[in-house]
Amino acid sequence: MVTKVLIAGKNGMVGSALVRLYDSFSNFEVLSPARGELDLLDRNLVFEYLSKNKPDLVVDAAARVGGIVDNNSYPVDFLSINLQIQTNLMDAAAKAGVKNFVFLGSSCIYPKFAPQPLKEEYLLSGPLEETNSAYAIAKIAGLRLIQAYREQYGYSWISTMPTNLYGPNDNFDFNSSHVIPGLIAKFHKAKIEKQNKVTLWGTGSALREFLHVDDLARAIKFTSEKYNDHEFINIGSGEEVSIKQLAELVRQVVGFEGEIKWDSSYPDGTPQKLLDSSKILKLGWKPEIALKTGLVSTYAWYLENATVR
Ligand SMILES: NC(=O)c1ccc[n+]([C@@H]2O[C@H](COP(=O)([O-])OP(=O)(O)OC[C@H]3O[C@@H](n4cnc5c(N)ncnc54)[C@H](OP(=O)(O)O)[C@@H]3O)[C@@H](O)[C@H]2O)c1
Repeated sequence: MVTKVLIAGKNGMVGSALVRLYDSFSNFEVLSPARGELDLLDRNLVFEYLSKNKPDLVVDAAARVGGIVDNNSYPVDFLSINLQIQTNLMDAAAKAGVKNFVFLGSSCIYPKFAPQPLKEEYLLSGPLEETNSAYAIAKIAGLRLIQAYREQYGYSWISTMPTNLYGPNDNFDFNSSHVIPGLIAKFHKAKIEKQNKVTLWGTGSALREFLHVDDLARAIKFTSEKYNDHEFINIGSGEEVSIKQLAELVRQVVGFEGEIKWDSSYPDGTPQKLLDSSKILKLGWKPEIALKTGLVSTYAWYLENATVR
């Protein structure tokens, strides 16, 4: 039997990884309309598309996503656009009788000072990180809406909580990127321009966990088949590094030979962010791509494909 899967956000880092993965299975038919075909802010169009195509599974990888500065500068976009995209998709999927739906939260929506590693039950147990609270509140509303659909209509819909991701099709723009693509782009530019130093934001002391997006795509497929619970499920690699260690690793991978300076006038964000992924590990999924290996292949992808987008 062929399963029809709708992947929203096909041109994004996560969406494109999901399309690569599902396309490799002959028992899945992939629907992956880009924004030009299906603008997810157009509620009527989303209802029309879902009722016409009737997918068996929807994976929502479409969102307004960005780094600290971007989140701080555009809180209206991060709150309003994300609320609209996810609500339109869920309401339309419900109307079309879609049996399975996977929503994506993000580890950055846990409370700023929650104990580490972050267990699923720590969500909403304390104040949020202020720099991305608009994004976090939209995501928390999405997690709750999935639960509400389970409660009110009995749908087997689930939410996943991925850690920080990286990989092909990431956003390498200097102003709006997350840390790994930002570091790759900065070190690459410095190498090409033969600069003798690169200045990075913050102190480098924050601790972070990273997961390659192809590992996440496998985890999403895995959970959509093996997990059916009211509570969302964490997806992390368990591999934690300081931003300083990460910068050194990326510097080596890119081959920049100059010095790294830290500008502590920029915020570090949450001091530590490590997910407790024991729930998904117990179910039988595990990451396959080590950080160094993933950085090498991501830089190779960057050299072939990217400048900025
Ligand atoms: N990146 C991470 O580290 C990370 C970590 C945890 C969770 N997540 C979650 O994973 C999901 C995907 O993130 P990502 O990193 O893949 O982001 P991304 O690369 O920015 O991709 C987002 C996608 O959403 C699409 N989109 C935005 N607005 C749309 C609209 N109105 N209509 C149709 N499509 C629209 C974008 O389309 P265009 O290409 O046309 O702009 C893009 O393809 C998000 O829910 C995010 O919260 C990401």
